[in-house]
This record gives sequence, C-alpha cells and structure tokens, in this order.
Amino acid sequence: MERIYINGGKPLSGTIEVAGMKNAALPILFATIIVEDKCVIENLPKIKDIETALEILKAMGAKIRELSNGNVEIDTREVVCGSIPIELAKAMRGSYYVLGAELARFGRAQAAFPGGCDFGERPMDQHIKGFEALGAKVIDNGDFIKCTTESGLNAASIYLDVPSVGATINIMLASVKLDGLTVIENAAREPHVVDLANFLNSCGADISGAGTEVIKIRGVKQLHGVTYAIIPDMIEAGTYMVAAAATNSTLTITNVIPKHMESITAKLIDMGISVTELDDALIVSRNNTPLKKIKVKTNFYPGFPTDMQPQMCVLLCLADGQSTLMEGVFDNRFKYTDELIRMGACITVQGRTATIEGRPSLHPATVRAVDLRGGAALVIAGLATKGVTWIDDIHHIERGYVNMVEKLQSVGADIKKVVIPDVPNGNHL
Ligand code: EPU
Repeated sequence: MERIYINGGKPLSGTIEVAGMKNAALPILFATIIVEDKCVIENLPKIKDIETALEILKAMGAKIRELSNGNVEIDTREVVCGSIPIELAKAMRGSYYVLGAELARFGRAQAAFPGGCDFGERPMDQHIKGFEALGAKVIDNGDFIKCTTESGLNAASIYLDVPSVGATINIMLASVKLDGLTVIENAAREPHVVDLANFLNSCGADISGAGTEVIKIRGVKQLHGVTYAIIPDMIEAGTYMVAAAATNSTLTITNVIPKHMESITAKLIDMGISVTELDDALIVSRNNTPLKKIKVKTNFYPGFPTDMQPQMCVLLCLADGQSTLMEGVFDNRFKYTDELIRMGACITVQGRTATIEGRPSLHPATVRAVDLRGGAALVIAGLATKGVTWIDDIHHIERGYVNMVEKLQSVGADIKKVVIPDVPNGNHL
C-alpha cells in the first residue's frame, strides 16, 4: 500500500507544467476505434485512467506503440467488437465511450456499466436515449449495457435533458459516420467536448457547433489517421492554482489555456488572490493577504467546474468568515468533507450545499482519499497545514494526476510517497 506524507505549512515557489487533459484524452483514445487507421496521440497524460483505456484498446485488438517522446501510436485496423474485460470497464468512468465508438464502427456494442468516482447516482439514461434515437435497441440490466440494431443506425435530432459530457460525447461518437445530419441540443460545452470534435474533424469528420449548446454532426463515409495533441488539463491547472493560494505562495503554471480557467481565476480573484494571465501560463500569487469569504456554485461549463469543488473547499476552510459551496452538477459530491473535518475544518453539509466557517489554519491528521478530486483537496490541505499529514487510498489521486508528488517536490513541498508493506491479516503496518 502506498500513502502520501506531507510535512506542510511551507510556501511553494517555482513553475509547474500541466499535462494533457484526462477527460479529453479518454474519449479521443476510444474515438480511434472509429478511425480504423493509425493515429499518433500527443500530450497524453501518464495516469492510471489512461493506462486502463490503453489496456481496453489492446484487449479489443488495437496495436499500441509507445514512441520515444512519450507519445502513443494506436493502430485500430484490427479491432474487433466484443465485451471488454469487466474489471477494466469498472476501473473508471470513461470506459463507457467504448459504446459510442463500437456502435459507430460495428453497429452494435456491449460494455459493463462503468466505474469512476462515487458521487451518488450517476445514471446513463441520456446516453441510452441518444443511442435509441439513432436506432439502437438498448438493453441495460444494471450491470451491462448492450446495443444492437435490426436495420442499422440513422441520423437523428436529440435533445438532452441535462448537458451531460458523457452523453454528448457518446452520441457524437456513435453518429460520426451515419448518413445525414445528427443534431444534439442542450449539448455539453466543456473544452473536452470541443477537443474531441477537433480530433474527429482532423480525421475527416464533419462536426460543427462543439462548444455551443447545439452540435451538428454530418455523417462521413470514412475517417483517416492523424497526429493529434490533447489540450492541457484545466482541472490539474486549477488544482495547482488553489495549492498556491492555500500555501500563501507564488506559482507559475504553464501549458494552460487561460480562457478555460476563467471561472476559477474569477473566484480566486474574488478571494483576494492575484492571478496574472500570460499567453499559455498563469502566475498565481498570495502574499499573506487574508482570504475573503465567498459563495461558489458549481455548474456545467462555462460555470465553475464541479471537478474543482473539493479543492476550492479547502480554500474556503481557510477564509475569513462563512462561505457557501453549492454543488450544481452531482447529487452527492461532499464525501471528502469528513476527511477535512478530521483536520479541523468546520463544514456543515445539507443536501447539495456546504456551509464553511473559515479558520486561520487546519491541523494535521491521517486522512483518506475517497475520490480523485477529494484526494487532491487533501493534498492541498496537507500542504497548507503545519505538521505531518498522511493520506491513504492514494490510488484515487493517481487515476487523474500526473506525478503530483514529484511536481510538488519540484516547487519546494516536503511531500513523498511512502510504501507501507501489507501484513497477512489484511491490516497495514
Ligand atoms: N446525468 C444524467 N443522465 C445521464 C448522464 C448524466 O442524469 O445519462 C447527470 C449526472 O448524474 C450528473 C450530470 O448529468 O448529475 C452531469 O454528468 P456528466 O454526464 O456530465 O458527467 P460524466 O460524463 O459522468 C464527466 C467527467 C467527470 C466530471 C463530469 C462533469 C469523464 C470521464 N468524467 O463525468 O470527471 O465531473 O463530466 O464535468 O469525463 C473527474 O475528472 O474527477 C470527474 C469526475
């Protein structure tokens, strides 16, 4: 078992480079199934979820070659349609993109219900509604989703009840080669949706409107292989922005698209933090200025991202006075707050709202990552707190952050990963 040790309370200083975006890389990797050719994908983040996606592609018959510069060549010409290994499907959320990709290439699809972070119910009804509108017969038995067609798929107009990232992407994937025009209304507008559309268009697809509420997909007969670089990860960038603010530090964060960061930048400025935008970098600086209390509500893009809600919570725990944090996307994304409370945070959660009484500081404790971003929040809390914080269950963090420990060491944090040997009764030393 691995744990993270943090001896916190020290300011950070220097530059952190952001990796490629997990939530853009996952659909693009699965989209290569439809391309049926060789693609080179650049700026892929080296994280567990990407390893899992590559394992799934290999299990389907794709040939994967890691190139010397860390880029990956994927040849999907010999991919076959079949159910992917359950343990891989359940290891992350993004495995559900196999469904859209298989439907596009083979006209049928099957996958186990995906895993991913536990935020309460995470239904797939909008994905299924989309697949059915395209003419698929969908069987969802709670464990597996199976899609078949009797007379092939057809283009259609689909109105999403919620602007779901997953459903928007799955429908884009499934419709890219259908005759005619598919229209997705109330589509998700997240930068990763745009990145997928850009990738598919560079392969020869005809998709317009990505980044707006209405996406139009005019089917094309065939796609071709390309070399494509994934956009930078706005959530990784935001996590280090908050780390700079919480530790009273100055950090330069490079390989960012400042436009994607606007909702996060605005909230940090509201709290009294200085953020300077450069072309593809941000300088975040706090110089002993008190953190102002604020209200934050997470929302679909361009709103404040739900994937930054736990990290922002840490900052609100250190602000002067009472702040409120409202979750506008998921039913239950506050599980990590129990761990912050163990560090002395004063948080009361009622439904989708957390009320936070700021404190001058937290105290160190042994805590547990309960999900990916909740785990990142604990790292920030540990960095901001004098004394030694231990974090367990760090596999959640490693699903989504490239070399987080090493990146933080490089800006002066006293943080390391420690291996604790397993003992036979299942406990840990
Ligand atoms: N929803 C439905 N029905 C559906 C699909 C979604 O009701 O068929 C609801 C969800 O329950 C939720 C809301 O719509 O309340 C938004 O869900 P969405 O489908 O947009 O989220 P997702 O595809 O499950 C992706 C990211 C998440 C990120 C959300 C929101 C991936 C692999 N996952 O999840 O990323 O929080 O979009 O932006 O792209 C993370 O990286 O830490 C993470 C959790």
